[in-house]
Amino acid sequence: MSEKATINISIFKRLVSHLKPYRKTFALAVFCSVTLALLGVSRPILIGSMVKNYIDIDLKSETPQPEMLLFWTLVILGILFLEQIVQFVGSYFSNLIAQSIINDIRKKLFGHLLTFRMRYFDKTPVGALVTRVVSDLEAITEVFSAGLMDILGDLFLLILIVITMFVMNWELALMTIIPIPILLYATRIFARAMRDSFQLERVQVNKLNTFVQERITGMAIVQLFNRERKEYANFETINKGHRQAHINAVWANSIFFPVVELLSSLSIALLLVYGALHVSGKTPDQIKQMNGETFSFVLFIQMLYRPIRQLADKFNILQRGTVRAERVFEIIDLDEHIQDAGTNTHCNFDQEISFRNVSFAYQNEEWVLKNIDLTIKAGETVAFVGATGAGKSTIVNLLGRFYEFQKGEIYIGNTEVREIELNCLRRNIAIVLQDVFLFSDTIHNNITLGDESITREQVIASAKIVGADEFIQKLPGGYDYEVGERGGVLSVGQRQLLSFIRACVYNPEILILDEATSSVDNESEEMIQKATEELTKGRTSIVIAHRLSTIQNADKIVVLDKGEIKEIGSHSELLSQDGYYRKLFDMQFKEEKE
Ligand SMILES: Nc1ncnc2c1ncn2[C@@H]1O[C@H](COP(=O)(O)OP(=O)(O)O)[C@@H](O)[C@H]1O
Ligand SMILES: [Mg+2]
Repeated sequence: MSEKATINISIFKRLVSHLKPYRKTFALAVFCSVTLALLGVSRPILIGSMVKNYIDIDLKSETPQPEMLLFWTLVILGILFLEQIVQFVGSYFSNLIAQSIINDIRKKLFGHLLTFRMRYFDKTPVGALVTRVVSDLEAITEVFSAGLMDILGDLFLLILIVITMFVMNWELALMTIIPIPILLYATRIFARAMRDSFQLERVQVNKLNTFVQERITGMAIVQLFNRERKEYANFETINKGHRQAHINAVWANSIFFPVVELLSSLSIALLLVYGALHVSGKTPDQIKQMNGETFSFVLFIQMLYRPIRQLADKFNILQRGTVRAERVFEIIDLDEHIQDAGTNTHCNFDQEISFRNVSFAYQNEEWVLKNIDLTIKAGETVAFVGATGAGKSTIVNLLGRFYEFQKGEIYIGNTEVREIELNCLRRNIAIVLQDVFLFSDTIHNNITLGDESITREQVIASAKIVGADEFIQKLPGGYDYEVGERGGVLSVGQRQLLSFIRACVYNPEILILDEATSSVDNESEEMIQKATEELTKGRTSIVIAHRLSTIQNADKIVVLDKGEIKEIGSHSELLSQDGYYRKLFDMQFKEEKE
């Protein structure tokens, strides 16, 4: 990900086009910048004329008109005060714009991501997406809050100062801008050095973040396998790289600023030498004039160098923001969502589900499901069994259209699933997975998933059906208990029950339990078994279970092997068939006895 030295104009234009809705605020911010520049330039002019008119540098006579000196000093104080106010208002406006724009982009980006098909998430690292949504957007914010506005303001100020200087005294002006080409050259070199070291720094920070995040998430594994010492050594290496990257950045900085100071002093020195050389043969009035101008110019030089010095930084901000924006726009432009061409929103889901000759591959021609033909009657409970990797979860994924299947059709009643609007389809199918994902939010919100039309009463009623009300009531705060990241203190079984409540409050026509009982202990299993019975009552259900004991009551058991259906029948039918199911059953039965 090398960052180019220039700004990609078309990306930059697109970024700036986000200003449109905030035109008025932007105009106000620009007005503040212009006012600030005008006020800034007026100060050296006033001070120069004060020196010329009211201060006698030779000390030969009394200070002329002390009351005027006081008056103008107050005026200058007033201007300074005004500058602070305008500065404050201006930075308020530009930050307001920046935050509004970033809010727009973030909403667009995240909303877009939400529609992507699962395949996209299979191949894109989580970390990369988090970076896009969080830190890339931060860099873009800076373009509007700091970069763009400051550059506009600074450029305006620079131009104004140079014009004023030339109008006041073009010879002096020429004198003072002699070192500026050197400065611009130094700035360029510096900008490049900074960019390189910042880039290195970012790579190192990324490395450190990923490393720490992974080790902390996997701490149990690290300690279990006695990897602490090894991981610590790894950490040390990464940490060293991180430190070096920082030091490089600091180096570049600490060389550049003295150079700028040196050049601005050189400028002032040139000014003074020039003055001293031209002083002979001048009338006292001319000398006074010169004194005033010299004063103004010294102040101008200081005002001139500050923005030039910062220009490199600001340019970096623009550049970084543009590069990050490019990556964000790439995602926004990506067309990775499931084709939602379906328009049917009134499909009755309480009908037979039939898979007709469905074949599917996650990649190319590696068929994970082969010619699946299967009918599930309305209200029936069907169990899928088979070895890990047989394709059980995949079938379920296809029904919810998390992946697009290549061959065959899936019907609900007489409607093909691809004709049904995606939202409508998913609203009517609830899937409970083995790994329950909980957000760091309250129990209540984890159940409703932010759907405000679901009341507390409904949640409690569902919890009672599932048999989880009791343990939730015991938690501090009950349903308002904050679940920590990764589930906090809740046991696996309790988390599983929460996901049952989720399914229950949504009251779907079709319920899918994918190994929902697999990772819980015996005690919880009993609870979950009961909950399953309650939930599957009266609705079409697909239950995928590892332990055959949990599915013996299913109306129909489907045995899958390597993506193909081997056997279909009830528990007793399949046992008497003495086939694949029988083998599986005997194997587990033996294990449990041992
Ligand atoms: N997201 C995926 N991308 C690529 N291959 C996958 C993906 N998910 C599952 N597979 C593969 O598809 C096959 C079936 O997986 P799955 O349906 O999860 O099996 P089961 O649920 O029966 O254990 C396996 O070989 C698995 O490796
Ligand atoms: Mg599975």
